Amino acid sequence: MLESDLRSLRHAWATPPAAEEDPFERFDRAQGIGMVRDPYPALAAMRAAGPVQRIDLHALAGMSPVGPERELYSVLGWDAVCEVLRDAARFSSAGYATTMGVVMGHTILEMDGVEHVRHRALISRAFTRRALERWERELVRPIVNAHVDRFAARGAADLVRELTFPVPVRVIAGMMGLPPESHDEFHRRAVELISVGIDLEAGKRASRALTELYAPVLADRRAAPRDDLISVLAHAEYDGARLDDEAIYAFLRLLAPAGAETTYRSSSNLLFGLLAHPDQLDALRRERALLPRAIEEGLRWEPPLLAIMRTATRDTEVAGVPIPAGATLAVHLGAANRDPARWADPDRFDIRRPPQPHVAFALGAHVCLGMHLARMETRVLLETLLDRFPDLRIDPDAEDVHISGLMFRSPRSLPVRF
Ligand code: HEM
Repeated sequence: MLESDLRSLRHAWATPPAAEEDPFERFDRAQGIGMVRDPYPALAAMRAAGPVQRIDLHALAGMSPVGPERELYSVLGWDAVCEVLRDAARFSSAGYATTMGVVMGHTILEMDGVEHVRHRALISRAFTRRALERWERELVRPIVNAHVDRFAARGAADLVRELTFPVPVRVIAGMMGLPPESHDEFHRRAVELISVGIDLEAGKRASRALTELYAPVLADRRAAPRDDLISVLAHAEYDGARLDDEAIYAFLRLLAPAGAETTYRSSSNLLFGLLAHPDQLDALRRERALLPRAIEEGLRWEPPLLAIMRTATRDTEVAGVPIPAGATLAVHLGAANRDPARWADPDRFDIRRPPQPHVAFALGAHVCLGMHLARMETRVLLETLLDRFPDLRIDPDAEDVHISGLMFRSPRSLPVRF
């Protein structure tokens, strides 16, 4: 993270919210969305100075989130990022217990070793290929089309507010089996939950409110399972073990933002890339087979989540840099995705780039459990827009549409005409 970014982030945290402020606006402000337009040149400069760097927190007056006894390292190069993410024994995820864990509970995100493997195996039952195919047919396509129907006759829309923002949260709520009348509250609470860094009490309140939404559904599905995610979690068995209620609530609390926040941002980023490069949008219209590559390029070029955290479990080294036990590592997925050692002209958005794996979904034991769902949702969104609006283009009267953000990145709006 860059010094100037840390300062603006601290300013955002310190600024009190207006009464009744929209939690989405507040979250965007706290994440530096709208303030940090392009962190990539500075990340590139840091990466060029070395793939792993010790950050001197004491030099950043007032910023010592890891405490004086610990140290912070930024991991920026492709090889170094992969090395850290592949070695979960050396680089633990347990540090999330003191951040997201405070409001989510003990989730797979913060588990290590055997505990993580067992829980992930149980939970993975809910994300089978068959389940995905059914969700695409019964949930994603109808939800996307219903949202597009609302603006289709208008000839203009904001694709963020009217499509990419509301769709993923409706999908995840539908997958869980939550009643439709609770979907708006579900979305608001999901955003409040990840705003824990700005307002701990609001995060805890959101956590309780989400549990209250889940509890009657879980009780009902334990007694009478249906075809939804909560039913699968309630009845999944691995080695004779089942998930207890708290483990299920914790996982559902994690899924609320994991499923909604990231997918909304990544699909917005891909749409921005295409609308800002009309020649590539045209190429995709002519050659639909390019769609999977376009989706991966969008994720590589502008991953919605720029960095994740790990903790060194022992004295070690990465890329020749010694790292002491207990040190926190900021693993920069965005910087790794633009490492010039791996991608030619990495800042360029290019859907015809020869495909090779990126780390937008991380890598190793904790690789995103929802990545196939996220890809499917993005594909359906794109297919629907291409099918229904053959002349979709950025609104020529719109001013300065761009992606911004520090940890979470996306455009605030995508005004289009068709
Ligand atoms: C483009 C959209 C998405 C992106 C870029 C993304 C990214 C990530 C990343 C980077 C991680 C690793 C976090 C870490 O280890 O520190 C992760 C984990 C996770 N993601 Fe996603 N995610 C996306 C969509 C989703 C969706 C749609 C779901 C589920 C509905 C989901 C569920 C999860 C879960 C459960 C984990 C924890 C896995 C574990 O710890 O073993 N994600 N995601």
